[in-house]
Amino acid sequence: MLKGKKVLLRPVKRSDISLFLKWFNDPEVTQYLVMYLPMTEMAEEKWIEELATTRAGSDVVFIIEVKTGELTKPIGNCGLFRINHKDQTAEFGIAIGEKDCWGKGYGTEATRLLVDYGFKQLNLHRISSPVFEFNERSIKLHQKVGFQEEGRRRQARFKNGQFWDEVLFGLLRNEWSKD
Ligand SMILES: CC(C)(COP(=O)(O)OP(=O)(O)OC[C@H]1O[C@@H](n2cnc3c(N)ncnc32)[C@H](O)[C@@H]1OP(=O)(O)O)[C@@H](O)C(=O)NCCC(=O)NCCS
Repeated sequence: MLKGKKVLLRPVKRSDISLFLKWFNDPEVTQYLVMYLPMTEMAEEKWIEELATTRAGSDVVFIIEVKTGELTKPIGNCGLFRINHKDQTAEFGIAIGEKDCWGKGYGTEATRLLVDYGFKQLNLHRISSPVFEFNERSIKLHQKVGFQEEGRRRQARFKNGQFWDEVLFGLLRNEWSKD
């Protein structure tokens, strides 16, 4: 478990399936994500199962929980995907599925916790992260955490009736905290 001031990151449980189904069938959330087909219970079960099997060495996923007094409430997930042990690279992904929790600093803190874990525990050298050009909140988050814009894949993604650029962000370990 990774603990911050406002949020903590904990491993995924089977009982999180109902949360995933709610979050990833909400078009207001999925408009910002690469996924676009309805998320079924069977697909979610398989996805969670694979975290412990075929993807155990390559994907690390956490549930983001927000602290409310003594209790905590799950609000979304984040992870490092396609971890490459030779090149020491991974791709970052995050989704806060509880929309009333957007814009409260939770995503930024969760990202900082995960990035720190990636560099200091997984020994990553580089973390990359593609963001749709219209996702201003996510672009702001990446900039605040220290990601650099490295380029754009022009009109690479079709969402909401039109093609959009994908902004490519990257963060190197020596640009992260040196302590
Ligand atoms: C993107 C996401 C992870 C950001 O997390 P968050 O907790 O909402 O963001 P934070 O509150 O930590 O920071 C967002 C920043 O964007 C700013 N912001 C908020 N709403 C904004 C808007 N509509 N336009 C531009 N900036 C906005 C905030 O002011 C904040 O910056 P500040 O701290 O300088 O004030 C979250 O909103 C989310 O999961 N959205 C849906 C799925 C998604 O987009 N995933 C990312 C795919 S790349």
